[in-house]
Amino acid sequence: MPQAELLSPASKSLVRLRVNGTDYPLEFEPRTSLLDALREHLGLTGSKKGCNQGACGACTVLVDGERILSCLSLAVQYEGREITTIEGLARDGELHPLQAAFVEHDGFQCGYCTPGQICSALGMLHEFRDGLPSAVTPDMAAHAIEFSEAEIKERMSGNLCRCGAYNGIYEAIREAAGSEVAP
Ligand code: FES
Ligand code: FES
Repeated sequence: MPQAELLSPASKSLVRLRVNGTDYPLEFEPRTSLLDALREHLGLTGSKKGCNQGACGACTVLVDGERILSCLSLAVQYEGREITTIEGLARDGELHPLQAAFVEHDGFQCGYCTPGQICSALGMLHEFRDGLPSAVTPDMAAHAIEFSEAEIKERMSGNLCRCGAYNGIYEAIREAAGSEVAP
């Protein structure tokens, strides 16, 4: 490959992302992560860049209701999908039940991990609703999975909190699980 070609900037792709119910035409390099597209191109800085390598969960967002790590995802993969970030959870000025429960139960200290915790918790509740087992589900064939402490902790284990607000996070999730939690 000629050296000039090696040095030239990567070509850009025109991608239409649907985020929190709004379509955004965006132009960025194909290697752009979904996290960078959200933060740097759309200014949605709620999703956090903690490790940028899939270890902390701070960048968790929902795609068609399923939680994903946006730092490990290419934005171009998600054209036409429904992306939901923490900015899209409140409705008509009302906090989402999970957000309200995190406030009520002190589910955060510095708040850096909180958007990822809340998006992940919402995705986890969808997994319960859909009957998806986890590594600690005793009966894989069971129709209804018990919403137990072990299940919650296992399923939230990909979201780290350096402040150690785990007790409040757990209590908040337990409370919100009884509310209407679908976005
Ligand atoms: S920033 Fe994505 S997992 Fe840490
Ligand atoms: S509240 Fe500070 S990292 Fe979780």
